Amino acid sequence: MSHQHTRLAVVGYGYWGAKHARVLSSVPGVDLVVVDNDPGRREEARWGCPNADLTGDLAAALDFVEGVVVATPPRTHGEIAHRALRAGKPVLVEKPLATSTSVARSLVDTAAEHGVPLMVGHTFEYNAAVWKLREMIHSGELGRVLYIDTARLNLGIYQNDVDVIWDLAPHDLSIISFLMGERPGSVAAWAHRSVGARHADVAYLRLQLEQSLIPAFVHVSWLDPQKVRRVTVVGDRKMAVYNDLLDEDRIRIYDIGVDSTDPGEPVDTPAMPVTYRTGDIVSPHVVFREPLLVQDTHFIDCVRTGERPSTPGESGLDVVRVLSASDAARKSGHEVAVREEHGLLDGRQVLLARAQLGGTPS
Ligand SMILES: NC(=O)c1ccc[n+]([C@@H]2O[C@H](COP(=O)([O-])OP(=O)(O)OC[C@H]3O[C@@H](n4cnc5c(N)ncnc54)[C@H](O)[C@@H]3O)[C@@H](O)[C@H]2O)c1
Repeated sequence: MSHQHTRLAVVGYGYWGAKHARVLSSVPGVDLVVVDNDPGRREEARWGCPNADLTGDLAAALDFVEGVVVATPPRTHGEIAHRALRAGKPVLVEKPLATSTSVARSLVDTAAEHGVPLMVGHTFEYNAAVWKLREMIHSGELGRVLYIDTARLNLGIYQNDVDVIWDLAPHDLSIISFLMGERPGSVAAWAHRSVGARHADVAYLRLQLEQSLIPAFVHVSWLDPQKVRRVTVVGDRKMAVYNDLLDEDRIRIYDIGVDSTDPGEPVDTPAMPVTYRTGDIVSPHVVFREPLLVQDTHFIDCVRTGERPSTPGESGLDVVRVLSASDAARKSGHEVAVREEHGLLDGRQVLLARAQLGGTPS
């Protein structure tokens, strides 16, 4: 990356926007403007990010930045990102890209119309441990993948505008698609609201991948006594566990398995239907760099060169489709196919979304 000068805006200086501001200001040649409509948050930025300019006025900032990072609550992503894209600025939007398929689709279309990169903050796709897991799957080391299981639990931050699925599952959905190179084709969902009157705080998703039909299970919770950040890939040769909370041994590969010996005889046969294999547990060395820094450095490259991001708006749209399908699955109580139109009844809704966001319905 060349050390040319680049001016970027971080919109939203909350929990996560402050982390973006920290990593972006560590990159040589980057000048920052922090945009937050809460004066208290701007005051925090004055201390946390002393070299940044501060404003509550996005329009003013858009006049003199070359790229925009949107780290505001999910329901505001659509409007802010549209304004930036229509001003011709490359945009990195935090996950989830939007809170409906129509708005997510409209963002992808607007970026294409203006010829500017749109990137989604699927941070785990910039995580060296996830790259290692993917390499092990694709090299065949784990054998045929039988299923994937993920858990993202703790006493989490209850969000105002989205439930626990829309808040936490985007990470797992992006990890699963990245690992397997395919999208979920269907989803079943169970969710429960334990505290408060607003959103579900515990949920389980069961996905089936589009082509391989491999199942994947996602458990997310804001109401669990233990912090868990785990991805398990069970293959028919070996199994791998990625524990994001460990400083070392983030990935452990278990050389264990179960083989069927079932000869198809009547079920009352006394023989065990399986045999067990046990072997070593090894932990591959993974050179780790802070994923948010890797992600944001890539965004800066996209701003400077106009290149297409590794996690483009389309990936964000794919995840939003699965989230919308999971809403439909919860309501119906059935497994639901993930389709283009999830959250989108027809093309008129895209036009409506654009009109509501201030764009020209073309
Ligand atoms: N990639 C990750 O691992 C990760 C982790 C946490 C959060 N996130 C995402 O980051 C985003 C922000 O989450 P958070 O936890 O930091 O939220 P937060 O509530 O802590 O902060 C949001 C900030 O945005 C500001 N804001 C709201 N509307 C605005 C507007 N219209 N213009 C300017 N500022 C506005 C608020 O004043 C606040 O300071 C969400 O999309 C969330 O899903 C991503």
